[in-house]
Amino acid sequence: MKIAFFDTKPYDRPSFDRYGAEHGVEFKYFETKLNEDTAELAHGFDGVCAFVNDTVNDKVIDKLYEMGVSVLALRCAGFNNVDMKYAHGKLHVLRVPAYSPYAVAEHTMALLLTSIRRIHKAYIRSKDFNFSLSGLTGFDLYGKTVGVIGTGRIGRVFIDICKGFGMNILAYDKFPAKDIEGERVRYVELDELFANSDIISLHCPLTDETHHVIDRTALDKCKKGVVILNTSRGALVDADALLAAIKSRKVGAACLDVYEEESDLFFEDNSGHILEDDTLARLISMPNVIVTSHQAFLTEEALSNIAQTTVKNIVQMIGSGQCPNELCYRGGSTEDCKDGKCFE
Ligand code: NAI
Repeated sequence: MKIAFFDTKPYDRPSFDRYGAEHGVEFKYFETKLNEDTAELAHGFDGVCAFVNDTVNDKVIDKLYEMGVSVLALRCAGFNNVDMKYAHGKLHVLRVPAYSPYAVAEHTMALLLTSIRRIHKAYIRSKDFNFSLSGLTGFDLYGKTVGVIGTGRIGRVFIDICKGFGMNILAYDKFPAKDIEGERVRYVELDELFANSDIISLHCPLTDETHHVIDRTALDKCKKGVVILNTSRGALVDADALLAAIKSRKVGAACLDVYEEESDLFFEDNSGHILEDDTLARLISMPNVIVTSHQAFLTEEALSNIAQTTVKNIVQMIGSGQCPNELCYRGGSTEDCKDGKCFE
């Protein structure tokens, strides 16, 4: 089985080479992203492997379909970059639903602690033998309230971590999981979460419903000094509204591992370039904003699990025509699709 692998980074190859060799899957690595201009590179391959910032729109889907490429193996959980409805009947879209919720949840807490204890400032100061503590005062997490939007795999792990810190949790999910409610965890409506949270962390997928869930209206409802954490998808937050709320001192700090317009910037070294995106440049310039470039997933364990599941998905789909991690165009797994429409 030959698979065209797009948007390759050096850290992708060892695990994919290892699991691919074990299961007879040969990867051809392309550094370029998958888009309308590059889709033709997949000519002659059995499938393509794509990541979060590859573009799988109607034009790309048509090109892949015309070339007889029928399998799109996403090596990630989110699939907002794929036109799922258009892909229906043309492409089998596979994904890795879970690879390490701990990686993302732990990175979220790392960002929060870095921000509120000013570790990013202290690190730079001590490198310059500046041992002054002025301006480094933080606050305790113990007893604070964190609002968690999305209580799936990652949200749950993040809630457990927060419980370990003695925090209280206000949770919101479109499909609440009652088993996580307890002494310090309570499901509430979004308005209550906004009004009472000291920290808000996003762990829901990006959909039409969740697009800009943190916008000006939401931020107006928040406590003064609220800390916003986004390790989920950039467009959950209206970046201009966030910037305005930071400038007005409504938002006390923001930690962003994802950004709405990240696709041309994140994962690449842009240090020699003039940043065209004024909103991102201004956000990064703020002392109370920490930006990492979609790094939350990046642990040894996650990379290994991603490669293992992606290879298994490809072998199952191409070998037997079925894979439990195939996505239904409605967003769930084909296993959950009761009316069989995904197989039309
Ligand atoms: P999951 O599918 O286990 O959980 C998502 C939760 O969001 C579910 O409980 C679902 O009911 C809930 N949800 C769906 N629609 C909602 C809505 N309208 N409002 C509130 N909640 C809603 O997903 P998982 O594995 O926890 O991942 C969460 C997100 O994290 C992914 O969608 C992805 O965007 C992001 N992610 C980010 C990574 C990074 O490196 N920064 C890596 C992996 C995932």
